[in-house]
Amino acid sequence: LKQKAAEVVHSDLPSGTAVTVNGWIRTIRKHKKYAFVNISDGSYDKVLQLVFTDPEQVNDLRVGISLEVNGTIQRRKDLTDPYEILVDNYDVIGGVPEEEPYPLQNKYLSQDYLRRELPTVRFRSLSNGVTMRFRSRAVSELSRYFEENEFIQTHPPLITSSDCEGAGEVFTVVSESSVTPFFGKKGYLTVSTQLHLEALMMGLSRVWTLAPAFRAEKSITSRHLSEFWMLEAEVAFVNRLEHIMSLVEGLLRTALRRLKESGELHSVLSVKTFLEKQKLQDGEGEDKDQEITHAQVLQRWDGMLQGSPWKRITYKHAVDVLQQAEREGKARFETSAEYGDNLKSEHEKWLASQYAHGPIFVTHYPSQLKPFYMLPTPGSNGETVECFDLLVPDLGELVGGSLREYDYKRLKATIERVGMDSSELEWYAELRKWGSVPHGGFGMGFERLISYLVGIYNIRDVIAFPRWVDHCVC
Ligand code: 4AD
Ligand code: MG
Repeated sequence: LKQKAAEVVHSDLPSGTAVTVNGWIRTIRKHKKYAFVNISDGSYDKVLQLVFTDPEQVNDLRVGISLEVNGTIQRRKDLTDPYEILVDNYDVIGGVPEEEPYPLQNKYLSQDYLRRELPTVRFRSLSNGVTMRFRSRAVSELSRYFEENEFIQTHPPLITSSDCEGAGEVFTVVSESSVTPFFGKKGYLTVSTQLHLEALMMGLSRVWTLAPAFRAEKSITSRHLSEFWMLEAEVAFVNRLEHIMSLVEGLLRTALRRLKESGELHSVLSVKTFLEKQKLQDGEGEDKDQEITHAQVLQRWDGMLQGSPWKRITYKHAVDVLQQAEREGKARFETSAEYGDNLKSEHEKWLASQYAHGPIFVTHYPSQLKPFYMLPTPGSNGETVECFDLLVPDLGELVGGSLREYDYKRLKATIERVGMDSSELEWYAELRKWGSVPHGGFGMGFERLISYLVGIYNIRDVIAFPRWVDHCVC
């Protein structure tokens, strides 16, 4: 493979070194004695400046054209960009239409505009580039943590015969060409791989996966997609909820620390700074993005990396705190918090903002608010379950996890009681028949994590081709 721009820039080559780079033209500036062309190959968070000593050389160039360039490195000690390339010669690889303007204009474009108007071209923008690279690096660091902790990466199915969460938000899989059910019965797109992960866990002890999840959820919010990626893990021989929370905390802290150390946070921030400047200069046009500033992104990372361990409070205490805050006029909610009701997103966000801007675990929700598979809290008479939600400021729920019911008979009884299809779940209940073990796990919305860490408000903007109700473009 040929050298990427990032490699040229990061390998600290001395002036005069001959290099060949590829890229797409972003800007062209022609002066009397020189011409400057900025190119990008998407490998890092800046453009690479090409210097032409004969301005006539750029006459045939247009923004958007792809190039192969031969030249030598020039170091620029006085500037923030330490390198440029003095061009010897170049080849145009792919041209652009003469009359049509390049769709990605060189000015501030909101995420909203990019997603709506340029759903395929947006990956060429600096902001989407840095997001996609960050996503890729995040996968690597999360994988690394699991590997170091003896977890086995598994690939559970995406087509299933049951609704794991029992929330009725499943998509049904049908064959275009057959009238009878393709699988002989109903098939669904998975809402969570948890049930299958539990089967894998019963043999492999510690398993994880990062996989798509599908939900026919009609709520149109900045935190919901119909197709999203979920990171899930399941651990055997665990009988304390605390252990699962520590796993989540260890995973996120370690991955974040490493992403910070390897310069990923720096890249995110430098693009943010660039966009903030661009916005001041160009205005934000018709589309306004919900603003998350450079300072807020830093605060989010600090909140996660500092203050150990993360705060843990019970659901009951959370409702107490919310009600008290409202009584004392410290907070105002559209809907007041009530025992027995799910926490609303406004409650989650407020709670998380109270504790040093760090994440907070809310544990032991009432059983009726949670799915059938969760383990009842011992001694609670079935009132609460051994579960947690991890809440973060501005976003709310990032992770949900629990200990699982591991007794065959009790699980069967719960399935009956909540009115789920017990024949469809028999395989799952039977996992408890032979050598059942206490176990637990969690699921984290991957787009929620990424959008939180890069400071992009809407999770639609951190996944390549977002799908939500009435929206399945490209
Ligand atoms: O809380 P949820 O529904 O939990 C489960 O599905 C469990 N079976 C996970 C497990 O224990 N293995 O989903 C887990 C996480 C949520 O906390 C949220 O971050 C994310 O998945 N999530 C969504 N992300 C984007 N779009 C949606 N529609 C989402 N629904 C849930
Ligand atoms: Mg949840």
